Amino acid sequence: MDTFAFIIHPIHPKRDISRKYPLLGRIVTDWQIRLLSPYFPPVYLSEVEGITSTSTGKTIKGWLIACPLSPIHFIELPEKRVYRKIIETGHLAEKLGAKILGLGAYTSVVGDAGITIAQALDVPVTTGDSYTVSIAIQAVRKAAEVMDIPIGSARAAVVGATGAIGRICSDFLADEVAELCLVGRHDPALNELRQNLVERHARAEIKVSTSMDALREAQLILTVTSALHAVVEPEHLLPGSVVCDVARPRDVSARVAARRDDILVIDGGMVEVPGPVDFHFDFGFPPGKAYACMAETMALALEGRFEDYTLGKRLTRAQVDEIAAIADRHGFRLSGFRSFERPVTEEQIAQVRQKAHKRI
Ligand SMILES: NC(=O)c1ccc[n+]([C@@H]2O[C@H](COP(=O)([O-])OP(=O)(O)OC[C@H]3O[C@@H](n4cnc5c(N)ncnc54)[C@H](OP(=O)(O)O)[C@@H]3O)[C@@H](O)[C@H]2O)c1
Repeated sequence: MDTFAFIIHPIHPKRDISRKYPLLGRIVTDWQIRLLSPYFPPVYLSEVEGITSTSTGKTIKGWLIACPLSPIHFIELPEKRVYRKIIETGHLAEKLGAKILGLGAYTSVVGDAGITIAQALDVPVTTGDSYTVSIAIQAVRKAAEVMDIPIGSARAAVVGATGAIGRICSDFLADEVAELCLVGRHDPALNELRQNLVERHARAEIKVSTSMDALREAQLILTVTSALHAVVEPEHLLPGSVVCDVARPRDVSARVAARRDDILVIDGGMVEVPGPVDFHFDFGFPPGKAYACMAETMALALEGRFEDYTLGKRLTRAQVDEIAAIADRHGFRLSGFRSFERPVTEEQIAQVRQKAHKRI
């Protein structure tokens, strides 16, 4: 049987450690986790079974394994030490017999986005970012539709536009919307991206901004920074707008959910997996759903493509389109909307539209 492994890591350390070790999660403090977890070995989490292609009937099995570092470690520890820990976790995947390895959350963000890790391992590696982009764009299109925002005349913004995922999402959106604002922290990188889009005659008028205040103009926002803390706050947002949050940890502050009932915030990157999948581990999603980056790893295993796939910070549209076609063929689909870990119902969407209408 063909196989895969996928690396995850704690995002909210105390909560996520409790998912595997309930007792330990209760007694250790955040400070102890921060101090000790880099000395922890990689952790075997579970065997994943039941993933079955809807077109070929092929079934694969996989393993979830954890790199014992939390977001702060990925930012603060020396890069070489972080690479060593991820590579050690990759060796666990090899011992289990995985034929392809996916890198989740910050393990795909660090340094050169998988290139050094892939060079150090025998098993082929993918960050899963190409399918993450495809699903994020599909989610924005769908959310625009349910909120009655005609995408062709919409004003959109991408936050974290110069990052690996943000850059290529900007590239896709620039061909669909009327106006696109690239939001980031550094003017030169933003202007270079703007120049590229203008030179290739993208459809949208392209603006740049280093201020989150620019979001007040946007009807559609895709946010995908690697910030440790929320960057999108209630005061940044226009009534009736859509925010698709692809980042993990989240970019959208919980205050937006509490204070802005006139905004549709959706979690980007959730996918329905084909077949009676059982992860045998609760990573925070409802049964049968996976992150898009996990789904890319699974789709490649179903396709028998055991080769390095998405690596590095410069993603290509061709690879995004190719993995979207592969995933589609095997039955992966954009999942229904969720917001702050809860499903979004049609009634809630109707209420958001009503509240937005009143406020406008
Ligand atoms: N949902 C999924 O399935 C999925 C899959 C893969 C990745 N992700 C998530 O996607 C996010 C981005 O990944 P990536 O690979 O694109 O990362 P990346 O290449 O490192 O890009 C991140 C971008 O965020 C910006 N940024 C970092 N800290 C910031 C802050 N405090 N305020 C504003 N901007 C900030 C960076 O700007 P500078 O250039 O100024 O540093 C950079 O442009 C991560 O949260 C990752 O976990 C989600």
